[in-house]
Amino acid sequence: MKEERPMEQVKAAGEPEAAITIRHVSRVFPVTGGEFQALTDINAEIPAGVLAILKGRSGSGKTTLLNIVGALDTPTSGSVWIGGQDVCRLSERARENLRRKQVGFVFQAVSLIPTMNAFQNVEFSLRLAGVKKGRAQRVEECLKLVGLGNRMQHMPAEMSGGEQQRVAIARAIAHRPRILLADEPTAELDSAMAAEVARLFRELTRRERVTVVMTTHDTGLMDAGDLVIELENGRQVTGEQQETER
Ligand SMILES: Nc1ncnc2c1ncn2[C@@H]1O[C@H](COP(=O)(O)OP(=O)(O)OP(=O)(O)O)[C@@H](O)[C@H]1O
Ligand SMILES: [Mg+2]
Repeated sequence: MKEERPMEQVKAAGEPEAAITIRHVSRVFPVTGGEFQALTDINAEIPAGVLAILKGRSGSGKTTLLNIVGALDTPTSGSVWIGGQDVCRLSERARENLRRKQVGFVFQAVSLIPTMNAFQNVEFSLRLAGVKKGRAQRVEECLKLVGLGNRMQHMPAEMSGGEQQRVAIARAIAHRPRILLADEPTAELDSAMAAEVARLFRELTRRERVTVVMTTHDTGLMDAGDLVIELENGRQVTGEQQETER
């Protein structure tokens, strides 16, 4: 059993408080005839307001780790701290609340509601998050932020894949989550559009102070991040801090 301490006590003096702290996270899945160790002792500190890239081959454990950080799954051992709380030890209700209020998700396959236009898709997520005031203004702001201020009335089917993914990003950040988790958000985009989405994430970290964790196996996107966490067969390869101008 790992000892649990509040995050303030584990960070070195003078360091900014990490938005996400991953400590000794392992995940074992029961599989037919035994067990499968998908993650082994993952450790990372992700400072607030950075773009962290989680990279690795197919099957290396990226989605498994992202799901644990987003409180969609629980590790077999270890802990994940968000805003001073060990999310793995919260009640199911508190975890749901965390997911709704503090985390935004962007998935590989764009999951917009096809019968709603861009504006309505983003507004719907604000309703789900329980936002009552200033919704229209915030929806507009987010759609402008992703460069779609002139497409607000367009239906998903009237937009390109990249544009739809940008609506999905606007939707994921509208309720001002602390953390944005994006699982292969660029997988279905061409390389120019993928770079555009990565640039957009970086801009969001600056403009909205959101901490973004994005998984990818696109080596062309590695430079876009402030921090790279690399997985290989469920183990961590590096966690280097990149030199990027802010
Ligand atoms: N629910 C589960 N039960 C059993 N094994 C699982 C489960 N989920 C994932 N795994 C296994 O854990 C490993 C990591 O899976 P994961 O989905 O995290 O990989 P990934 O890095 O996201 O891969 P990809 O790039 O293909 O999305 C895989 O070998 C997978 O088969
Ligand atoms: Mg995956």
